Amino acid sequence: MPETALFSSADPQFLADVLSGLRGPRRAIPARWFYDERGSELFDEITRLPEYYPTRTETALLENCRGALAVQIEQGATVIEFGAGSATKTPLLLDAINPDCYVPIDISGDYLRSSASVLQSRFPDLSILPVEADFTQRLALPENVGDKSIVGFFPGSTIGNFVPCSGVDLLRHMRDILGEGAKLLIGFDRIKSADILVPAYDDAAGITAAFNLNLLHRINKELDGDIPVDAFRHEIVWNDREARIEMHLRCSRDVRFEVAGCEFAISQGEGIHTENSHKYDLRGLRLLLRSGGWTPMAEFSDPENWFTLVLAEAAPNQSAP
Ligand code: AVI
Repeated sequence: MPETALFSSADPQFLADVLSGLRGPRRAIPARWFYDERGSELFDEITRLPEYYPTRTETALLENCRGALAVQIEQGATVIEFGAGSATKTPLLLDAINPDCYVPIDISGDYLRSSASVLQSRFPDLSILPVEADFTQRLALPENVGDKSIVGFFPGSTIGNFVPCSGVDLLRHMRDILGEGAKLLIGFDRIKSADILVPAYDDAAGITAAFNLNLLHRINKELDGDIPVDAFRHEIVWNDREARIEMHLRCSRDVRFEVAGCEFAISQGEGIHTENSHKYDLRGLRLLLRSGGWTPMAEFSDPENWFTLVLAEAAPNQSAP
């Protein structure tokens, strides 16, 4: 019987990614599968950890650059946010630029609807048009949205979770969605000492470890797996050559298990690569943006240069030079 027939209630893409990802030799499962309900709760906890500086640094930056954003972005624009709107960051942008319309795009319909209703009570005159969709795929914006000036919002340094070539594809895709003349406000986490980076992904309270291991619990629950989760431990590596934090699940003994009726064996010391979080210097992030069809207009960094928000505009389609 085909694997997908057995697990008709599971997301077929999750099943396909897990089965191919576990088949090695370089085992890897895409990080997007961290975010089931428990994973999203754990991620929220991560953003409040003392070691996890990106959220509070970006939030402070948004507060500090409100005035500059109000000058650079027309009043009455439409803001299109890629990914779940965070309770703390989105209102800061909306307050700063006073848009007419806000379009949050998220794959989780429940999350979208609840955060949209919270925002609506805070901004009663704002037209909120949620779009339930995977923003990495083709999608249609609500009608009439293109009549206004458009600002994409992609905070959180989520661009860092894409390897650079996929990041460029995503930026190009965003440019296609937002159209000619659009702007994009995007957050980048900066390269810094491993002494700061590693604890941010390996916190003393073990929340990031629980977030990483939750992926195995999710596989067991949704894909009828029997992975012995206690055989795996959370591992963080600063890969200096690739300028990225890597998360792995390292196996501490030889194990055999099944997922969706398929058998797997992982030996002691082998691992599953679960996330990349790329960090950028200014030249690197500018090059990434330009490669993705965006021209940087303004950059906002904190005094320690730990995080940078960039306002960019869609580059006109032109050929070399
Ligand atoms: C969502 N993303 C930007 C986070 C990051 O920092 O790469 C995900 C994360 N993984 C572990 N901690 C946070």
